[in-house]
Amino acid sequence: MRIGILTSGGDAPGMNATIRAVVRGGLYYGMEIFGIRQGYEGLINGEFVQMGTASVADIIHRGGTILQTARSAAFMTDEGLKRGYEQLQKHKIDALVVIGGDGTLTGGERLHSVTGMRVFGLPGTIDNDLAYTDFTIGFDTSVNTVLSAIGNIRDTSSSHGRTTIVEVMGRQCGDIALHAGLAGGAETILVPEKSYDLDDIVKKLQAGRDRGKRHSIIIKAEGVDISSEKLAETLTERMEGAEVKVVILGYIQRGGSPTARDRILASRTGVRCVELIKEGVSNAAVGIKGDTVVDYPLAVALAMEKDSHLEYQRICDILL
Ligand code: F6P
Repeated sequence: MRIGILTSGGDAPGMNATIRAVVRGGLYYGMEIFGIRQGYEGLINGEFVQMGTASVADIIHRGGTILQTARSAAFMTDEGLKRGYEQLQKHKIDALVVIGGDGTLTGGERLHSVTGMRVFGLPGTIDNDLAYTDFTIGFDTSVNTVLSAIGNIRDTSSSHGRTTIVEVMGRQCGDIALHAGLAGGAETILVPEKSYDLDDIVKKLQAGRDRGKRHSIIIKAEGVDISSEKLAETLTERMEGAEVKVVILGYIQRGGSPTARDRILASRTGVRCVELIKEGVSNAAVGIKGDTVVDYPLAVALAMEKDSHLEYQRICDILL
């Protein structure tokens, strides 16, 4: 039995721990493992390399992905998919494991439904935007990175009596903002899933100032339909004497050593994935619900509706 494995889309802390789990799990069950470099782009170009137990030594704690990653426009075309499939046949791959977010698993599902290739998806993305799993690999690390940044920003904001807008990643999904915002004691959390009311934000900040609060933190996901700079400008205009600063955290949220939680999620889902392959399942997305590792056919997993975490925003408002 030969397994191919690739990472695709934006990288996420814990992707390496996932690769390690699939490689070592596969070897444990007597399989041969081939790493494919640069995601679907490398699949199309035939960048295959055989992996042994030593090739994943010393990576469980490392951010990024040793297989590297790419966003492949070519693989979305019929020609690209055909070329990718030909490479899998040429290297006699029986099952392909793809690690990534929504786009990665969607590409894998298309490969499976068009060619019949056995494809398995593992949720590697900081965004936590896959509905079939409670958490994605990398999300917890990212939230903790944001949390640590909020702590630093809070120190200086409070010394200067400023309001700071902290922009975090999340184009469609506000989970990073919601989790880091609640854990970081933010005054306001803005997410793409829910419209905001500027009057409300001003009222809340003003009420804080009236109570003698010298600083405040607003966590805003990048997908909210107002730029952080514009929001800062508007708040400055509307609150007399307020000084509003913007910090865009950017790619620091995607790097760093994965938390224990992400490493454990990577290890459990990676091994389960290999076991599904061994059991003869044709395709699956593997994730976690509660504390149980779950799997669904890729098409079913991708059609699910995501649980909302907007409750975090309500709790944050109560705890203001
Ligand atoms: O999907 C992960 C993610 O980090 C998103 O949160 C972000 O919007 C996007 O990737 C950034 O992508 P790129 O690496 O292409 O700038």
